[in-house]
Amino acid sequence: MSDWKNDLNLPARDLRPQTDDVLNTKGNTFESFQLKRELLMGIFEAGFEKPSPIQEESIPVALMGRDILARAKNGTGKTASFVIPVLEKLKPKVNKIQALILVPTRELALQTSQVVKTLGAHLGLQVMVTTGGTSLRDDILRLNEPVHILVGTPGRVLDLASRQLANLGECSMFVMDEADKMLSREFRRIIDQILKFFPQSSGPGNAYQSLLFSATFPLSVKSFMDEHLYKPYEINLMDELTLKGITQYYAFVEEKQKLHCLNTLFSKLQINQSIIFCNSTNRVELLAKKITELDYSCYYSHAKMPQASRNKVFHEFRQGKVRNLVCSDLLTRGIDIQAVNVVINFDFPKNAETYLHRIGRSGRFGHFGIAINLINWSDRMNLYKIEKELGTEIQPIPAEIDKSLYVVGEPNSVPRPFKLDHVPEGNTVAPRQQRRPQHNGYHAQNGEQPVQPVPSQVLPEY
Ligand SMILES: Nc1ncnc2c1ncn2[C@@H]1O[C@H](COP(=O)(O)OP(=O)(O)OP(=O)(O)O)[C@@H](O)[C@H]1O
Ligand SMILES: [Mg+2]
Repeated sequence: MSDWKNDLNLPARDLRPQTDDVLNTKGNTFESFQLKRELLMGIFEAGFEKPSPIQEESIPVALMGRDILARAKNGTGKTASFVIPVLEKLKPKVNKIQALILVPTRELALQTSQVVKTLGAHLGLQVMVTTGGTSLRDDILRLNEPVHILVGTPGRVLDLASRQLANLGECSMFVMDEADKMLSREFRRIIDQILKFFPQSSGPGNAYQSLLFSATFPLSVKSFMDEHLYKPYEINLMDELTLKGITQYYAFVEEKQKLHCLNTLFSKLQINQSIIFCNSTNRVELLAKKITELDYSCYYSHAKMPQASRNKVFHEFRQGKVRNLVCSDLLTRGIDIQAVNVVINFDFPKNAETYLHRIGRSGRFGHFGIAINLINWSDRMNLYKIEKELGTEIQPIPAEIDKSLYVVGEPNSVPRPFKLDHVPEGNTVAPRQQRRPQHNGYHAQNGEQPVQPVPSQVLPEY
């Protein structure tokens, strides 16, 4: 081993078993991609030992400068698949925004910028995160300092670009994570407008490289691809759609029995951390209140909450300060919390994409987890349809669930990665949003076992 490797500050190794979703590689190493030493240092210090299948496929192609449209399963390392080429290709000495990474939610923007910072820790590249719900003035001040990589949500990025506060005129890399969501009706027009601020090419091809990633790609992506991508290299690692490590169950219940059923699940399951999805913000708040009354610890989050509360909930849930999180589809995509071993659809989702992304919040990076769906009479056809569409089996829930399907063998051997008092990076919150949450849903129950964190991969302090 060469000297620099001996000097690395490596996290504890994650010894939990993993599935072929991440193990089935060609055997490449990060070194074989000819990356800068400083970038390799960041990658190894994040705890990455070797590339996952999507990283093996996409990193070399992205380094060659090709446009990419890539599809790979949830939790298999898509973020590093675009962040590593961005970090390798940008020039720290050029004081311009050279890469834009767009994501659909503010929480995902914070998480992604943290991945950029961790992997790029030794490179001297500056990353800025910009989203709605934060003070524009702070963004303006920040933009006076060097920014090489801008991570953000579309509305705020368009705002900054069209007011000429952020100059994208020399931005050579355009990344969209959750690309199908970014091209849905909600965002598509904004994305088209943002791209008008990018350098324009006079010859064939674009003056910038585009990297599009998601686990789901409905047809909506096709028209964007034809219009904006140049000879895109297409990667599809979804020979099957659901994760090998996640076992899916359903429980048939009447609507009014759902809470009782959840209570039973809480008492029977060995939950390390859980995410519980509802289909409306009202139901999120109501359920969080009920769970707290049942004396289980719980937070909630949805898009109608003030940003300060959303950030606090997200940050503290990631730290493992609270066991259960009730949320809307705000946190369905991209959110990466390795300690989550149980996902519960308190309300069954309407479509297969949402279902897939929701259950993919557990079983991260090839680990094990379970998804439990509470199904009422009107959901039954939808359950059947989603099962068919995804080619997967959702089984009736048994009286006892085998712990080996979702519980880490020896939780105490799992090191604690988080510094609990670390405050998340990001912008300050606009004054009118600095109200305290009316109810934060947190209620630690006496005698409840502490949450067991898992070894940190990319976010050692977040
Ligand atoms: N090569 C690697 N070795 C070890 N861990 C890794 C590696 N690459 C990524 N990870 C870890 O795997 C987890 C999932 O990665 P990531 O969030 O990028 O998945 P994703 O494919 O974007 O999932 P989703 O579709 O849900 O957004 C993260 O905790 C990340 O740190
Ligand atoms: Mg992702």
